[in-house]
Parts: sequence; structure tokens; C-alpha cells
Amino acid sequence: MVNGLGRRLCNRASIPLNTYSALMRSKDRSGKIRASLPERSTTTMSAADSLETALADLEALEKRGLSAFGGAADADAIEAVRIEFLGQKQGQLKSAQERLKALEPSAKRVYGQRFNATKQALEAAHAEGKLRLASKGEVQGGIDVTLPGLLPRLGHRHPLTQTAAELIDIFGRFGFAVARGPEVEDIRHNFDALNIPASHPARDPLDNFYLSDSTMLRSQTSTVQIRVMENQPPPVRVIAIGRVYRPDTVDATHSFMFHQIEGLMVAKGVTMADLKTVLRLFARSYLGQDVKIRFRPSFFPFTEPSVEVDMLWHGGDRWVEMGGAGMVDPNVFRAVGYDPDEVSGFAFGLGIERLCMRRHGIDDIRLLYQNDVRFLSQF
Ligand code: DAH
Repeated sequence: MVNGLGRRLCNRASIPLNTYSALMRSKDRSGKIRASLPERSTTTMSAADSLETALADLEALEKRGLSAFGGAADADAIEAVRIEFLGQKQGQLKSAQERLKALEPSAKRVYGQRFNATKQALEAAHAEGKLRLASKGEVQGGIDVTLPGLLPRLGHRHPLTQTAAELIDIFGRFGFAVARGPEVEDIRHNFDALNIPASHPARDPLDNFYLSDSTMLRSQTSTVQIRVMENQPPPVRVIAIGRVYRPDTVDATHSFMFHQIEGLMVAKGVTMADLKTVLRLFARSYLGQDVKIRFRPSFFPFTEPSVEVDMLWHGGDRWVEMGGAGMVDPNVFRAVGYDPDEVSGFAFGLGIERLCMRRHGIDDIRLLYQNDVRFLSQF
């Protein structure tokens, strides 16, 4: 190719290798070095030379185009390559087509065929490049509705939360409302008002998480009984669900934090028969009609008489304690300003983890706290 503007100056050292072939340096009339793209040969050579050169140029153009489409790394790059080679106004293919006019009629046919082949090859390379980028997700601005959708992974409630919700539902049908109380509790609500004297071993610092002389993490949800009765006159029919804390060593059946459901029913003439009926109905509703539960005489400072409630574990070979219950002690009524000669009531406190474990056949309480999705996704 001849550059008619002046002496061509190839300064290899200053031209990066990859642009070397495309970019040539030359001096313009003022003597300044300038960079320019190589000029396209709109040739005035003889017809024989012209066909040969034109075919060679076409071949070179095809090679350049194919490698440019192949190397385009994103949507913008591939569009730039398309404009450069296939552009209708100034694309290189358009210039190559224009050369046809200058050829002899016999050369036209040969060149025309070769031109068509080049055009098809470049168009195919363009389509292929777009497909390649689309499969990498790099072509923007279009939605391929034929691609399979992304399935969102739905979470669900933790088995303990599911259990709590079900308990609320069952007791709701028995007419029990839901009450709440704080997890950071004062000594009065956790012990004093529940008729647990200062000397009682349940108050031992080794068995509780004291936060100060007067506050602690509640060790039982019975605290909520007191809060409810302090705030409303009888009759009362509530349950309270929540966390309780005790410094127990963690093993398959113990945890330093677990959940309880507390129940309290106070009215005129409430008896132990009501307590047993409610707990039996509840156990059948939650654990199944064939569940076996039993009541054992026991002692709690806040109930008189008191019982422990057991359920027959899977396989039927052992009894497991569900919780405690009893008739509300007159001292508790007095502590909240109720008249024990006017009203009577029952209370119970059950372990939610145990109920959930019995229901689902879970044999280790720690599984409920580890948050292993392989375990949780089964519920
Ligand atoms: N608060 C007792 C505990 O955590 C359970 C309990 C027993 C609750 C008897 C009661 C009750 O309401 O009447 O071990």
C-alpha cells in the first residue's frame, strides 16, 4: 500500500505489538509524527493486479473480522466489531463491496463470489459471538423467555416456631389468650410472688443467670402468670410462650436455654378436673389421639396440690416429663391481690422442645439449635 502523504515512518519500538499492524506512523507536512489507520486501497491499478490484490485484501479482511468477533469479550465490544466490519455506512465489508465497481466484468464474478463467502462468514461469526456471550450472560438488554427460570429457595419456620404456633392454635380453641413477658426479669416475678422463699434452693446462683442483685434471665415462664394477674382481675385464661434460661450442661436432653409454654386459668370454681381435662385434650390434639400421659404427685411452691405430667415416649418403653402443673397456691393469689376465697385456678408449664421432639421423633435437643439446614429442611 502506498501512502501518498509522505515518507512512512515505522517506529517499531514505540508501537505496541498488538496495534502495530493497524497503526502506522507517518510525518505530515509540518513534520509532526502522526498516527493514522492504514488507508484502504481504492485502487487505480490494472485490472489483473486489481483482482489479485482485491481477493487478497478480502481474505485478509475476513481473517481480521473473524478474529475480532472471536475476541470480543462483551456486548459493547461485539457491537463495535459489527460496526467496524458489517456496518452499512462505513464498514470494511461495504468498502470491499465498492471495489467491485472498478473490476473488469470477468473479474467481477470471481470477486463477487468470494465477497459473498466473506460476508456470510462474518455474519455467522457475529451471530456466533453473540450466542457465546449470551450463554455467559454477558449480552444485556434482552430477556430470553425460553431459558429455564430460577427457582427461589423458600425458607420456612423453624420446627420450634412451628410448634409454638400450633400450641397457640390449640389453646386458642380452648379459649386461652396469649400473654407475653420479658426475658430479663426481676426477682419478685421470678421468685417472690411465686411463693419461692429466699432460702429455696431454686434461687441458688449456681442454678440461675443473675444479671444483678435484682435482675436475672428468667428461669421459668411462670413469671408471666404474675404479670398477667397483676394487670387484670379474674377471670383469666392465658398461655405464655417463650425462652427460659438455666445454667445446665448441654447434652442430648438439656440446654442452657429452652422454651416453655405456661398456662393459667383462674375463675370461680376451677378444679383439678379442669386441669387434667385441658392437659389431656391438649396432649391428644398435639401428639395424637393415642398418646398416653400420666399425672404424678409432686411439689412446686406456687401450686398446691402439684403434679408432674409425663408422656409415654416413642416406642412406649419410657415415660418422659412434659412439665409441671397444679392448683394455684393461695399465697400466689395474695401476692397479686386476688382473693383465694373468691377464686381458684390451675397453672401448668410444659417444655416446648420436648413436645416438638416427641412429635417429630427427634432424639437430641441440640439439633434444634444448630441450624443445620439439612436437619431443618425436613420439617
Ligand atoms: N415453672 C415450672 C418449671 O419451670 C413448671 C411449672 C410447674 C409451671 C407447675 C407451672 C406450674 O405453672 O403450676 O419447672
